[in-house]
Amino acid sequence: MHSIIILAAGKGTRMKTKMPKCVFPLLDKPLILYLISTLKELDNCYKPLCVVGYQKEALQEVLKDEVNYVFQEEQLGTADAVLKCEKEVQDADFSLIINGDTPLLTSEYLNALIDKHLKEKNDLTLLTTYLVNPQGYGRIIKDNKFKIKKIAEEKDLSKKEFGINEVNLGVYVINNDKLFDALKRINNLNNSHEYYLTDIVKLFYEQKYKISCLNVEDNFHLHGINDLITLSEIENKLKEEINNKALKNGVYLINKDSIILGTDVKIDEGSIIYPNTLILGKCQIGKNCVIGPNCEINDSIIEDNVKIKHSLINNSYIKKGATIGPFAHLRMNAIIGENDRIGNFVEIKKSLIGKATNVAHLTYIGDTTCGDNVNFGCGVITVNYDGINKHHTTIGNNVFIGCNSNLIAPLNIGDNVFIAAGSTITTSLEKNDFSIARAFQVTKKNYSPKYKYNTR
Ligand code: UD1
Ligand code: MG
Repeated sequence: MHSIIILAAGKGTRMKTKMPKCVFPLLDKPLILYLISTLKELDNCYKPLCVVGYQKEALQEVLKDEVNYVFQEEQLGTADAVLKCEKEVQDADFSLIINGDTPLLTSEYLNALIDKHLKEKNDLTLLTTYLVNPQGYGRIIKDNKFKIKKIAEEKDLSKKEFGINEVNLGVYVINNDKLFDALKRINNLNNSHEYYLTDIVKLFYEQKYKISCLNVEDNFHLHGINDLITLSEIENKLKEEINNKALKNGVYLINKDSIILGTDVKIDEGSIIYPNTLILGKCQIGKNCVIGPNCEINDSIIEDNVKIKHSLINNSYIKKGATIGPFAHLRMNAIIGENDRIGNFVEIKKSLIGKATNVAHLTYIGDTTCGDNVNFGCGVITVNYDGINKHHTTIGNNVFIGCNSNLIAPLNIGDNVFIAAGSTITTSLEKNDFSIARAFQVTKKNYSPKYKYNTR
């Protein structure tokens, strides 16, 4: 069993924002959560230990109990951050140490690094790559026998070291028996006045401990994020990778650069996504759906053959063959039945709608259970809120609700009820009832000229 240490206590000064770097969103989730889901794929390890410090509450809110926490009060550097973990990793032979700002590392890289460490019986194994532009990264410095002898940080580079383009990717496997003794000997006599974890390489070299590296081909998945420009570049590459995967799987994205799909979105073949559409969070979309243009869908399930245009859908479930929009808003567990038609300017909240039901225009449905084959006329409102409490409406099958009706909840409307247009219904109706609840019309012949009015 080995331990995992995630370093996430830093301020992220180069981001130029107050939000701690590791909780910054990458596409649709905080960047540290990418690393957490990758770590779940590793075997033989203890629950990850995360070093938090700057705005630790923000990190804890995101990470919850996915990790154990170690607190670094003052951000004195990465060596100090790891040193804070000494007690917690006592039982493990070695530690996998990862910078929390490298979100897209994959388990293949991490497993390969650990395998190499164990196979070669190393004391320290680093993940490195060659970069055309190594700026910002610690450089791997070797002796004349090509043995790694130190890592030189950007701010401390000599002229000679400046041109070296093999870099430290901030992922280390280190034997615990040697790690903490060395960390205690690291000082901050450098241009950043920080205790660098990377100084451990020099100390290990001097002690003739076995150091090795896994040098991998450069790839955006390996890059650390230190500023918003890098974040944006990585986001674009990730977006492109996700979109290309969808295209390869038979999902057509029209004007793909305008479409954003989150990493936890699954779309089945034959579906078409139109421009300016965002599908984020945990979403599952079935076959032969047509979605967009201009849709935002979060954390929702959409079955086969659904059509959605110009709409916002959050935490909802849409069954086969339904059509949604334009300009519909479904939220908080709206469940839309098979072949339903949810039309323009319709809002549905926390409601279950049966199949073949029409809610075609300008309607609000909240806290409602509705049966099959119901027709909501234009402008129907389930009046669910009395200013203090929310109340439920139950509607049976084959109900006709005329235009502009208000159903004042709590209400129970039986099967086959007919409600005349313009009614305000305040008491429950039973099966086969007809109900009309509106003021009588008064018409006075030739009376209108008495009223002076402008038509503009
Ligand atoms: C670090 C490495 C550098 C490497 C690069 C790869 C050091 C000294 N340098 O530089 O060699 O090429 O990563 O991306 O390690 N942190 C703490 N406590 C602190 C300081 C930082 O927990 O006191 C955390 C940060 O939150 C961050 C991680 O450590 O997640 C790395 O810190 P960062 O400042 O980003 O280091 P880099 O300059 O990128
Ligand atoms: Mg960094």
